[in-house]
This record gives sequence, structure tokens and C-alpha cells, in this order.
Amino acid sequence: MKRVAIVTGSSRGLGKAVSRRLSSDGVRVVVNYYSNQEKAEKVVAEIERDGGEAVAIQGDVTTEEGADRVVGEAERVFGQSVDIVVNNATGPQPELSLDEVSWEDYLDQLHFSVKAPLLLTKRVMGGMKHNHWGRIINIGSEVVGLGNAEFSNYVTAKSAVVGMTRSWANELGAFGITVNAVHPGFIPVERHGEVTEESAQGYVSGVPLKRLGKPEDIAAQVAFLCRDEGGFVTGQNISVNGGKTFGV
Ligand SMILES: NC(=O)c1ccc[n+]([C@@H]2O[C@H](COP(=O)([O-])OP(=O)(O)OC[C@H]3O[C@@H](n4cnc5c(N)ncnc54)[C@H](OP(=O)(O)O)[C@@H]3O)[C@@H](O)[C@H]2O)c1
Repeated sequence: MKRVAIVTGSSRGLGKAVSRRLSSDGVRVVVNYYSNQEKAEKVVAEIERDGGEAVAIQGDVTTEEGADRVVGEAERVFGQSVDIVVNNATGPQPELSLDEVSWEDYLDQLHFSVKAPLLLTKRVMGGMKHNHWGRIINIGSEVVGLGNAEFSNYVTAKSAVVGMTRSWANELGAFGITVNAVHPGFIPVERHGEVTEESAQGYVSGVPLKRLGKPEDIAAQVAFLCRDEGGFVTGQNISVNGGKTFGV
């Protein structure tokens, strides 16, 4: 039987590449989105054009109602339980100094990095335990290794992903469920607008592999972890950033 994956926030950016890549591995994919139905439907159409199976499901995964509905719809549409969750969705990521930042700014980021993954994992893990097979992939960030100044709201929330991933891996391993985090480097996507040659060079000069990452670099790592052959990897925090940080 084919696996079913939910990729949160996959109407664009890295999630879109992950959805497309999982589909090319034969996975039935839920393209979750928040506001951009047209873009999500376009991702579904691209997957279907390539012979895959996908459905666009709207839902705010930072709310209990939204997370519950996304999983319920996925189960209804595909007629089977969810095997893979890629916790990728993100909202605005304001860069704020300690003078500017508030606890609410921290919570805004924690809702995406911790609350949404928690709600979804609690909702799907019963089915995964029953099947003795499951994959949870949390998308972190290289900022965890860099500790960027004036970005502590985001850095803190992504840092929580590191320990959360290890703890869940320890708890769920006996049930055949692996839990890993993939930490991307800076990968220009549409929300970054136009990235000038100058700013790209500034970043690339600190990257051992001397290039910017592509969404496909993240998708390939996620896809490996989701396959049967990736099944002996759990609790790991894997940096996919050309070596700019050597793990977290
Ligand atoms: N790109 C990078 O350079 C980079 C680097 C390090 C880490 N990351 C991490 O990688 C992940 C993806 O980043 P990205 O740059 O690809 O993001 P992005 O292009 O801004 O896409 C964000 C996605 O999240 C969705 N979304 C927003 N709020 C949501 C909600 N409440 N519920 C469900 N979905 C929601 C958006 O849906 P709509 O389109 O419908 O609004 C969109 O599909 C994030 O976790 C980010 O922190 C990215």
C-alpha cells in the first residue's frame, strides 16, 4: 500500500519541493496550505501531471481544530491513516532586537515550530503505532547553530525543535516511528523576494560548498528519511546547508 504524507505549508517554498519529491517516491501527498488555495491547487496539478496523487487541504495547523481537520480530511480522502508528517509551515519571521521583541513574538514562532508539530504528532501517532511504521520530520533551521543576533524569537523556537525531536524519537522508536529534524541553510524562496548577487555572495562566502541551497536539496534529505531505507535514522538533527554549520 502507498504511504500518505502531510506536508504542512506546501503551497510554496520548501514545502512545495518536499511534496513534489515525496510524490515522485510514490507517496500520496496532502498539500496543506493556509491562505493560498490557488498555489496549493497548482502544486497538486503539477504532481498529478507527473503521475502522482495529491490533494490540497486548507488548515491552520497551529490550532487544534485546524490540525485535527487536516488529518481527518487526509484520512477521508485517501481512505487510510497518515504515515508521514513533515512539519514545515511557517508564518512571518520578523527580525527583532531584544529591545523590540516581546513574549508574544516568541509565542508566534513557537506556535509554528512546537505547537503545530505537537498537535499533528499527537493526532497521527495512534495510526502509526498501529501500523508499526511512521515518519515525523521537523523542519528546523541553521540559525540554531548560528545563533543570529536580533532574531531570538525565531532562533529560540527553532532551537526547541532540536530537543523535542530527540525526546519524541526516544519515546516513539519502540513503535517503529522515526523522528528527525532537517535544518536548512538560507534557501531563497518567493518570500525572500529578489536576492541580490551581492547579498547572496556575502552568504555563500561562508558556505564551505560555495553555493546557495535549493529547495530540492531539502526535499532530497526529507525523502531519504521517509523511505524504508532511511528507517534506522532517528532522533537526528541534520543540517542541510552546504556545511555552514556542522550539525547542531
Ligand atoms: N527558506 C529558507 O531559507 C529557510 C531556511 C531555514 C529554515 N527554513 C524553514 O523551512 C520551512 C519552510 O520555509 P519556507 O521559506 O519555504 O516558507 P514559505 O515559503 O514562507 O512558506 C510558508 C508556508 O507555510 C504556510 N502557512 C503559513 N501559515 C500557516 C498555518 N497557520 N497553517 C498551515 N500552513 C501555513 C504557507 O501557506 P500559504 O501559502 O497558504 O500562506 C506556505 O505554504 C519553515 O519551517 C522555515 O522556518 C527555511
